[in-house]
This record gives sequence, structure tokens and C-alpha cells, in this order.
Amino acid sequence: MPLRIASRAANLAPSVTLEIDALAKSLAARGEDLVAFGAGEPDFDTPTPIADAAVTAIRGGKTRYTLASGIPELRAAIAEDFRRRHGVAYTPDQIVVGNGAKHAIHDAFQVLIDPGDEVLLPSPYWVSYAEMVRLSGGVPVVVPSDGSCRPALERLAAACTPRTRGIVINSPNNPSGAVYTRAELSGILEIARGKDLWILSDEVYERITRPDIRHVSPASLGGDAPERVIIASSVSKTFAMTGWRIGYLAGPSPVAKAAAVLQSQTTSNPNTPAQWASVAALRGDSRLFQGMIDEYDRRRRRIEEAIATTLRLECPPLQGTFFAFPRVEPLFGRSFEGEVVKDSATLASLLLKKARVVTVPGSAFGAEGYLRFSYATSLERIDEGMRRIKTLLTALR
Ligand SMILES: Cc1ncc(COP(=O)(O)O)c(C=O)c1O
Repeated sequence: MPLRIASRAANLAPSVTLEIDALAKSLAARGEDLVAFGAGEPDFDTPTPIADAAVTAIRGGKTRYTLASGIPELRAAIAEDFRRRHGVAYTPDQIVVGNGAKHAIHDAFQVLIDPGDEVLLPSPYWVSYAEMVRLSGGVPVVVPSDGSCRPALERLAAACTPRTRGIVINSPNNPSGAVYTRAELSGILEIARGKDLWILSDEVYERITRPDIRHVSPASLGGDAPERVIIASSVSKTFAMTGWRIGYLAGPSPVAKAAAVLQSQTTSNPNTPAQWASVAALRGDSRLFQGMIDEYDRRRRRIEEAIATTLRLECPPLQGTFFAFPRVEPLFGRSFEGEVVKDSATLASLLLKKARVVTVPGSAFGAEGYLRFSYATSLERIDEGMRRIKTLLTALR
């Protein structure tokens, strides 16, 4: 007789993006020529000086347990990096290093959410928030954007109930590529102040923006912001270190302290050599990442142009991250070889089966009617992918 899976795990939906990534990897392993717009990770290798720092750490015997919340050197480097960029001074004990931003967000929810607490998720939102809120006993409340993929402040305010405890925001935004303005963030902070809510600010794409746009952290907006905002970030995207699994949360002392206790009883410290590599990443100069960011910008211009002129689809302006999120709703109801495009999932599946192009349906992000493209791939592959999609779209009846 199969063992009974606890409802907490049995009711958990798998990550759609990781599922699509796994499918694409298995097709590629069979020798299929896929254009991969699915993966949400840099296509660059980790810069050599960072990798070397891990090797030095291993050879130097830095291979043991560390403090559960991370080595003091890394927490100091994170605090210094944040102070330099945003002017907010965290003490190292307000920072908890974990296994990626994903783990940091999970920690934050575990220590902030009681059963039945409501958490507002402006959509489109990153796939894992809703499931992680549920895992913590909370109730995710999706608040649709105003149609432009920007946060809808009036709707957010109207969604608050006496059970609302927090708002989760992500700027630069995965999947839309929007970077929230200072005014938008101030508006969200005002709502949080008015209703006494916390804000979880996921800033993993903080450095990956268009050259004329700067990411603003809501923690830097003055007054009680640092006491209300919990930041989650990581070295994954900026430094092409997704597999190293180092991220962190920074926030009010009671939250950081509770998260440190949680880690001490669950995961202990994240990988020790990877923590030393992350010190090298954060203490190194901007040459470690600037070349990659410049390359994302070249790709951004190429895909933005192709979406508009080759595919003739509307797309919210690409301001940051390496994602484009065109609106594909006008294609719904049309068909290819008898298969009707009912929604973003059928379109993504059609593109994979018939054009060998991997994308992610907007429904995975609480935004039906859109399709996400990751442009963390070469200019040649972007051109090839757009050509294949154009051929399929032209054949739609
Ligand atoms: C918005 C967002 N937050 C968090 C993460 C998780 O990042 P990490 O690798 O640091 O766990 C991702 C990764 O795709 C992401 O896109």
C-alpha cells in the first residue's frame, strides 16, 4: 500500500518553470534542436575569479560548518554592497544567508505567516510565491495588474482585509521585465504603512536593468521602511551563479533572528566554499558582471524589435531582467493543423511541439494571455527562435 503523503506536500503544485526546463533538457538530450527561451538563468559561466575563490577556500580547509546564518565575512559584504547602492545600513546580524533567494523567501514566509494570514501577490508574480505562502499556512491573494504589468495601487489597497499581513513585490520583475518606479514603490509602501503590513521585496535581478533605468529598493524610501521591508536577493543572476545556491534575506532584526533560528534547526549553513566564492563576487569590481549585463542589453534590443516587427505582438517595455512578456491573447481561438490555441499553455505547447521553441505560459505567473521568453541566450538563437515562431504564427488559421 502506498504511504500517505501529508496534505502539505500532496497539495503542493510543482514549479511550472522547472518542469518546462526539465522537459526541454530531456528533449535536448535526445538530440532535438531546441531554441530555449524557457530557462530563467544566465547562459554565462561563473566568472573565473569567483570560481577560483571557491577552489582556494576548499584547498585552505574552509570546508566545515559555519554559523547557520552564514559566515560573518559574507554578511558584512552583503551589508556593505547594500549600503553602497541604496544607502541603507544593515548590521550583519540583520542578514541571513541561505540556499538562494528562493530559500530566503521561504524562510521569510515561515517566520512571518500564521495560518490563515493573507498575503497580496500583485500579478504577474514569480511562480513560487503562491505555493510558498500556502506551505507556510497562508492564503495567497492575487491582485491583477492594470493590464500593463505595472502594480495597480488602488486594487492592492482594495484587496486588503483584516487578515492581510504582507505584500510580495519583485522588481525588476520576472516575468514582465518591468522595473517599478520610485513613485510606484512609495505608493506600495504607503499602503503597507496604512494597513501595518510587511513588504517582501524580491530583488534578485537588482543589477540587470536597461542602462537608463536604476532599480530602487523599497527599503531605501526613508522613515520606517527598513523596519517594514524584508529584502530577498542572491548572487545567482548577477554573477551567473545559479548552481552555487547562495542567497540572503536582509530585514528587521526580529525577522532575521527568527530566520537564523529556523535555519539552525533545518538546513544549517549553506555550502561553505560557495559562501567564500560569494564574498569574492560581492567584493570584486563591476567588471565581474558588467560585460554580461551589457550583453543582456544587446539581446533585449534584438528581441524587443523582433517581437514588435517580426511577431507583431504587443509587449510591456523591457526595463530589466532578461525576460520579455508579450501579450498573445489576440492569437487565442486560432488553430494550427486543427489544434486550437485556447490559452497560453496550449500556445507554449504548440511552439514546443511544432516549432521546437521553449517558452513559458503566462498562466504560470498568474497572467493568462501572455507568454514569457527568456533572452538569456545568444543573438543567433534569438533570431532563429523568432524565425521559427513567425513561421508557425503565419500558419495559424
Ligand atoms: C523572481 C525570482 N526570485 C527568486 C528566484 C530564485 O533565485 P535563487 O537562485 O537565488 O534561489 C528566481 C529564480 O528564477 C526568480 O526569478
